Amino acid sequence: MTRPTDTAPTTVAAEAAGRHRAANAAGDARPAKGDLLTVDDVHVRFHTRNGVVHAVEGVSLTLREGEVLAVVGESGSGKTVFTRRVMGLISGSRETDVEGTVTFDGITLSDLDAKGLAGVWGKEIALVLQDPMTSLNPVKRIGAQITETLVLHHKLSKQDANARAVELLRSVGLSEPERRVRQYPHELSGGMRQRVTIAIALSCSPRLLLADEPTTALDVTVQAQILDLLGDLQSRLGMAMLLVTHDLRVVRSRSDRIAVMYAGRIVETAPTKDLFDAPRMPYTEALMNAVPPITGPNHVRLAVIPGRPPNLLSPPSGCRFSPRCPYAQDRCLTEEPPLRPASELPGGGIEGHSYRCWYPVGTPENAEARRRNVERGETAAGTPVTGEMVPA
Ligand SMILES: Nc1ncnc2c1ncn2[C@@H]1O[C@H](COP(=O)(O)OP(=O)(O)O)[C@@H](O)[C@H]1O
Ligand code: SF4
Ligand SMILES: [Mg+2]
Repeated sequence: MTRPTDTAPTTVAAEAAGRHRAANAAGDARPAKGDLLTVDDVHVRFHTRNGVVHAVEGVSLTLREGEVLAVVGESGSGKTVFTRRVMGLISGSRETDVEGTVTFDGITLSDLDAKGLAGVWGKEIALVLQDPMTSLNPVKRIGAQITETLVLHHKLSKQDANARAVELLRSVGLSEPERRVRQYPHELSGGMRQRVTIAIALSCSPRLLLADEPTTALDVTVQAQILDLLGDLQSRLGMAMLLVTHDLRVVRSRSDRIAVMYAGRIVETAPTKDLFDAPRMPYTEALMNAVPPITGPNHVRLAVIPGRPPNLLSPPSGCRFSPRCPYAQDRCLTEEPPLRPASELPGGGIEGHSYRCWYPVGTPENAEARRRNVERGETAAGTPVTGEMVPA
């Protein structure tokens, strides 16, 4: 995603951007805006004592060079399992079934063993997690944690690595970087620690950054700063980013495309503007109605999404959103809707917009389903329909 920035690029950022440009100018086979990550029909199932958890089911998506794709969904929808599978951190075992392929720049990651993956992690692909304390070593100084990656992957001398560590900390907005390199993680605030993990992630100028709820553990004011920092670095470095979050608000101005996940599946995907302008899947609409408007009175009453996401040990038959959907009809309880292109709807839709629903939002069929449910006071799944639940 390209966003205007009024700050001059740091040396680190300029160097990395230059590296990518030089690679292309030199006739590198990588296209400037080609597909970088392709995920095809990925499934992850966990065999537990209580049964099989269908955590991710048939997820496919593509991420282009330099693009920001947000994966959004409530807690428990399979976002983290999906991200970990993309990284190769979950592989097949007696307890875990995995299916599908993950390809990064022509390399099939899903076929690589730990040694093969080590050549890609931290070098071409980096990960930023929710809790910086899980990524940082509590008994090692900040500087050492950055330099070890630089020495390993870049073969820098200790002195050069130290200088680069200071520069990286400066580029992620940490004050007094010369002092910070000598500190331990517990001496920094949560926001500062997350800046350090971002500096480590960026130390090898990755082409893809996976950020799984990178700000959920932080205070609200710090959340925005960290997200802005990530967006700024992403556009300066020309990295692609998969931004995983439960909060639709944070991705509206920070993503090019959005994939909405529900109960292990992608239920809607579209360019960000199109998704906000014309959501088709009732779950996306419900997520939007549950988000307070940025402008307007702060006493505005929010619509609620009734119930909870389904237990993935035994998801509902038919459409998985049916127990919570205000428009649910009989068909929804027995037949699962496929992912269909919005361009096939009357009035059309933008290329790349797909949704799963028998009664898509904005169609006469949806209006009729709504009318029927309001009239009988409940949906076909027996969920009471209230004014709050059904958008006017
Ligand atoms: N190792 C595991 N064994 C069994 N179930 C798991 C395991 N890891 C995750 N799950 C289940 O997979 C589902 C998706 O989890 P997760 O990907 O963490 O959701 P999200 O990140 O969207 O909140 C949840 O029901 C969770 O309990
Ligand atoms: S209308 Fe039916 S198919 Fe569409 S989201 Fe609701 S329950 Fe699912
Ligand atoms: Mg998660």
